Amino acid sequence: MKKTFIVANWKSNKISLEAKNWLGEISSLINQASNLSNKEIIVCPSFIHLCSMKTFIEEKKLPIKLGAQNISPFDEGAYTGEVSASLLKEFADYVIIGHSERRSNFNEDDEILFKKAELAKKYGLISIFCVQGIETTIPLNIAMIAYEPVNAIGTGNPDTPENAEQVAKYIKENSKAQFVLYGGSVTSGNVSKFTQMPSIDGVLVGGASLDAQEFYKIIQNA
Ligand code: PGA
Repeated sequence: MKKTFIVANWKSNKISLEAKNWLGEISSLINQASNLSNKEIIVCPSFIHLCSMKTFIEEKKLPIKLGAQNISPFDEGAYTGEVSASLLKEFADYVIIGHSERRSNFNEDDEILFKKAELAKKYGLISIFCVQGIETTIPLNIAMIAYEPVNAIGTGNPDTPENAEQVAKYIKENSKAQFVLYGGSVTSGNVSKFTQMPSIDGVLVGGASLDAQEFYKIIQNA
C-alpha cells in the first residue's frame, strides 16, 4: 500500500508552551487512532523546540518524525547563528529546503539550496525540497519534492488537484524524485482530493497544522 506523508510546517510560530500543548493534544488523539501504519507524520517546528519535542515523542513512543524548516549551507564550524546539518541530525530526520518564503525573504538561490541539499545528504537527513512549479531546478538525487505554487500558500486558494497531479507526474518523470507532496492551503476538507491522486504522495501543511485537532483530521483524511 502507498505510504502517505503528512508534513506540518509550523514556520515561525508557537512558543514552547504552545508546542508542548499541541504535542499533548495530538498524542491523545493519535493514541485513539486505529491504523496509521501507512502514514508518515512529520512535524517541522522551530529549531528551538526540536530537543524537547524529540524527548516527548520518544517518551510517549509517538509515531511522529521531526524535521527542520531550514539548515545552514555550510558544514559545522565558525558560522555564527547557523544550524548545520551535522547538528540537526541529532534531533531530526527531515529538513525542508527551498521553501518559497526562504527564496524570497532570504534571497536563497539555486547555488545555496544545492549546498544545503548536499549537506543534508552527507549527514543522512531527508530533504523535502520545495519547488514552485516545473521550472524550479531540482538538485540531483533528491528523493522527496514538495510542489508548492506561491499563490496557493497561506491564501486559502489551493491549486486544483488535477493540476497538482500533472505537476507531480512531470516531476517524477523528469527527476529522481520518488515522492512528491503537494503544499498550499491544504485543510482537512481538501486533503483527500490531493492524496488520492496517483502521483501525489502526501501534503505539506502550513497554517492548518498549527491547530492539533485540525492537523489530526488532516492525518485521518489523507
Ligand atoms: P499553507 O502553507 O498551508 O499555510 O498554505 C504551506 C507552506 O507554506 O508550506
